Amino acid sequence: MDQEKKKILTISGVGKSFGGLHILRDISLEVNKGERIGIIGPNGAGKTTFFNLLTGDLEPTRGKIYHYGTNITKQPNYKRVRNGMARTFQKNNLLNELSVLDNLLLVLQRKEGFGLVWFKSRGTEEYPKLYQQAYELLEKWGLAHQQDAIVKNLSYGEQRQIEILLGVATEPSILLLDEPTAGMSQSETDYIVDLLYKLPKDLTLMIIEHDLDVVFGLADRMVVLFDGGVLVEGTPEEVRADEKVNKIYIGSGDEV
Ligand SMILES: Nc1ncnc2c1ncn2[C@@H]1O[C@H](COP(=O)(O)OP(=O)(O)O)[C@@H](O)[C@H]1O
Ligand SMILES: [Mg+2]
Repeated sequence: MDQEKKKILTISGVGKSFGGLHILRDISLEVNKGERIGIIGPNGAGKTTFFNLLTGDLEPTRGKIYHYGTNITKQPNYKRVRNGMARTFQKNNLLNELSVLDNLLLVLQRKEGFGLVWFKSRGTEEYPKLYQQAYELLEKWGLAHQQDAIVKNLSYGEQRQIEILLGVATEPSILLLDEPTAGMSQSETDYIVDLLYKLPKDLTLMIIEHDLDVVFGLADRMVVLFDGGVLVEGTPEEVRADEKVNKIYIGSGDEV
């Protein structure tokens, strides 16, 4: 694979200000295909804002973002999704009144290019392939027993699991996960971690995660955001041993 193909994202001197407040300044990072990048940093460091810039939910104040060499700095979110970018949110983004199966069908339908055609009125006959795919995915991820559950009746942890499943279901080339284990019980966290380890190896992952054991175990490369910039970038071992990183985590209750 040539170098350009390998580089899925190039982030060049990106910054974001809200009013006069410089939340992110001058972030540069290259993300290679299949890489698993862990992003950590104290609360308010700008991690979620950084994801919002990558996905097009926010426009950077300065700098450029390239996806496979194409400048996507101003590209709207839906185009990035169509080009293989998926994300999960810190807060759940599911359709709460619908069942797990219906949420999954909607995501698969969008991916198949059915647009906004409402599948329900058509029933299973016209969309056997979509239903088949949905059943297979639910089976594969051990969630078949929840297919008819209405999302709002699931626990918070279960909703987060479903949300990640929906992210994966679109078969993205890059998946951005914002604190996937936040607020979860140990068993729910274990499920998510297990799921993340089972993701296809060519899927590029960027994961913001407060649970340092989870992220150090999963990532090939770590980026520590602090004070609007990249404080340290390196392997999990390098970051764990870094004095600056240890300093900002001292007293935070988290152990590096
Ligand atoms: N839309 C916005 N308008 C103004 N300030 C914002 C906005 N989004 C985030 N911020 C501020 O930017 C800072 C970084 O937020 P965020 O990216 O959510 O941090 P993190 O995810 O690292 O905890 C915070 O101080 C937050 O209040
Ligand atoms: Mg955040």
